[in-house]
Amino acid sequence: MQRIYRFINANARRPRGLMGRFLGWLWAWESRAINDKAIALLDLESGDCLLEIGFGPGETIRRVLARYPGLRVIGIESSDLMLKLATARNEDAISDGRLSLRKGASGVVAELGEVCTHALLVHCLYFLDDLQQTCERLSGALKSGGVLVIAAVVTDAEIPARFMTPAYNFRSTAEILAALETAGMHAEVHQDEGGTHGALRWFRATKP
Ligand SMILES: C[S@@+](CC[C@H](N)C(=O)[O-])C[C@H]1O[C@@H](n2cnc3c(N)ncnc32)[C@H](O)[C@@H]1O
Repeated sequence: MQRIYRFINANARRPRGLMGRFLGWLWAWESRAINDKAIALLDLESGDCLLEIGFGPGETIRRVLARYPGLRVIGIESSDLMLKLATARNEDAISDGRLSLRKGASGVVAELGEVCTHALLVHCLYFLDDLQQTCERLSGALKSGGVLVIAAVVTDAEIPARFMTPAYNFRSTAEILAALETAGMHAEVHQDEGGTHGALRWFRATKP
């Protein structure tokens, strides 16, 4: 069983091929409630500019663009397959100039400058190896008063065994909060009171 988990989790880090397509289909609905809570915490308004890292199949981008008519989105993703799926899902917004999808990782974030009002990472932090550098680059992409929301499974709660393979680099709540604070942001943590998402936390950080 552990070999199957390794294969699936390696694909979650670098989705490609048939398994990547399956995961893209799965994530579009499986992580919807988690993304919904993250979007609520972002507190977006039309006219804002949202940066999403690791957007997967682009379903959250599609829904957020439909909900906030004047919103602009910049998406950054390392997987060619996910770029393709998200492009197909959001063709109109790309041609209207409301959406820009770019291939890359946090290095691309570093090149943006302070252009975004909001930033979002859902189930992606584990794949970004340098936590402190990631938080600093995200802070660097936000304007003053900008809001960052990270949704991630944390080590100080019980993580399901299927995720315990080398593909995931989980951190504790304290580590993530400390990295956000060191990056100059004020951070708070939220959890699901209903207990459905046991080990998941939503971090909301604001740039002064
Ligand atoms: C588990 S999926 C989450 C997708 C989406 N955020 C969601 O909530 O359904 C993680 C995504 O992060 C992407 N990813 C992994 N490493 C990345 C990196 N270094 N930079 C940008 N994206 C990355 C993967 O390609 C994958 O699409």
